[in-house]
Amino acid sequence: MKNDSKYNLNNGPAIFVEGLHKKFGSIDALAGVSFEVARGEIFGVLGPDGAGKTTLMRILAGLMDYGDGSVRVAGFDLKTEQPGLSDLIAYMPQRFGLYEDLTVMENILFYSDLYDMSRGAALDARIEELLEFCRMAPFKNRLAGKLSGGMKQKLGLTCALVHTPQLLLLDEPTNGVDPVSRREFWKILNEMRKSGLTIFVSTTYLDEAERCNRIAFINHGRIGSISTPQQLKKSSQNLLWRLEVSDKFRAVEVFKNVEEIISALVMGPAIHIFTKKDCAKDAVEKIVRNALAPLGIQLYSIGECEANLEDIFIERMT
Ligand SMILES: Nc1ncnc2c1ncn2[C@@H]1O[C@H](COP(=O)(O)OP(=O)(O)OP(=O)(O)O)[C@@H](O)[C@H]1O
Ligand SMILES: [Mg+2]
Repeated sequence: MKNDSKYNLNNGPAIFVEGLHKKFGSIDALAGVSFEVARGEIFGVLGPDGAGKTTLMRILAGLMDYGDGSVRVAGFDLKTEQPGLSDLIAYMPQRFGLYEDLTVMENILFYSDLYDMSRGAALDARIEELLEFCRMAPFKNRLAGKLSGGMKQKLGLTCALVHTPQLLLLDEPTNGVDPVSRREFWKILNEMRKSGLTIFVSTTYLDEAERCNRIAFINHGRIGSISTPQQLKKSSQNLLWRLEVSDKFRAVEVFKNVEEIISALVMGPAIHIFTKKDCAKDAVEKIVRNALAPLGIQLYSIGECEANLEDIFIERMT
């Protein structure tokens, strides 16, 4: 069984990217991106639609060329060395190609053939192990087209991992999957990380970003900051306030036009607003009351609060 590749992640970072640029015509899909991913970590790239996540992922998978910059995977320069890292890497694209009219098992065997794996007891054992791991064993004879969204993603993961890679690239792997299945998918990823796999994952879900060891914010092809979820939550340069009002949706619209309010977001039953650090509570309360009074919206409560990732995300994106 694998891994007999001469490339491995024994030394240095799993991924090293410096000053990476990628243009599509006049669009800067990546405009000078730099980061490193350590071996055995789950590194998340969080960003809105069109931020550059898939472009970055495809470059790392060796499927797309790029402009300026240096990209090293397992120590090899993707531009000059082209080491053929397919044994080492698994890439699960945003739309993973499953054959709906083949069964779960047939799909997995199809992918193992793509990786030139010889059939036999060792492959059977690997597939059984992965199916157990992904809780897919009871469904191995089911047609892929008859699986739920979450099960399809787990089958995609099984197919991507069949050749025992050391680095897993996942592009929005749980997009459109229900929250329970997403949680289960992440549990599987965490267990895989514990067994030594390095995972590079893009997402638009903040609860998923929270599960990564480190997160990079990407927007308009630029990475703003990289830190642990805990550091990120404490990284705001502004003050966050939690308000309860009589009409939160109209209030948020009003706040968009108030100069002192940097951003406003409905958060459950309340509203979160950011103001500059030097705003005292009395001053913020006055600003809020002045903005809401003409519309007859009541302010029930106001207090400083700690930011969550969603707050930080909105703050960074505005
Ligand atoms: N093949 C292409 N030709 C032209 N422009 C492209 C191409 N691929 C991506 N782009 C552009 O590059 C930018 C980054 O796209 P990319 O697909 O990397 O974003 P993304 O973060 O993956 O978005 P999403 O969350 O929607 O998948 C976008 O402006 C996109 O329109
Ligand atoms: Mg994408």
